[in-house]
Amino acid sequence: MTKITFIQPDGTEQVVEATVGMTVMETAKKHLIDGIEAECGGACACATCHVYVDEAWREKTGGPSEMEEDMLDFAFDVRPTSRLCCQIKVTEALDGLIVRVPEKQF
Ligand code: FES
Repeated sequence: MTKITFIQPDGTEQVVEATVGMTVMETAKKHLIDGIEAECGGACACATCHVYVDEAWREKTGGPSEMEEDMLDFAFDVRPTSRLCCQIKVTEALDGLIVRVPEKQF
């Protein structure tokens, strides 16, 4: 099991258990994390699963693919640490991952 911390814009933290092989978005939906809408169901086609990856984890999660970057153009308040969390696969190496949920998804 991999632990992931989701931090809401007001600072509220939720630590959840993620299953290796799922995506961070699927993990968020399973645990009813506020602010992760994921309207397209993980097809990299909606940008409503936007999160900010904690600086310390950027290297481990890697950056967005070209397709993801194109989609991020539609997200609200995109920053250098922005990712679409349906495109981040949970691995053991991501145990302890911290992501922040944006103020809104669009
Ligand atoms: S769930 Fe739609 S882009 Fe991630």
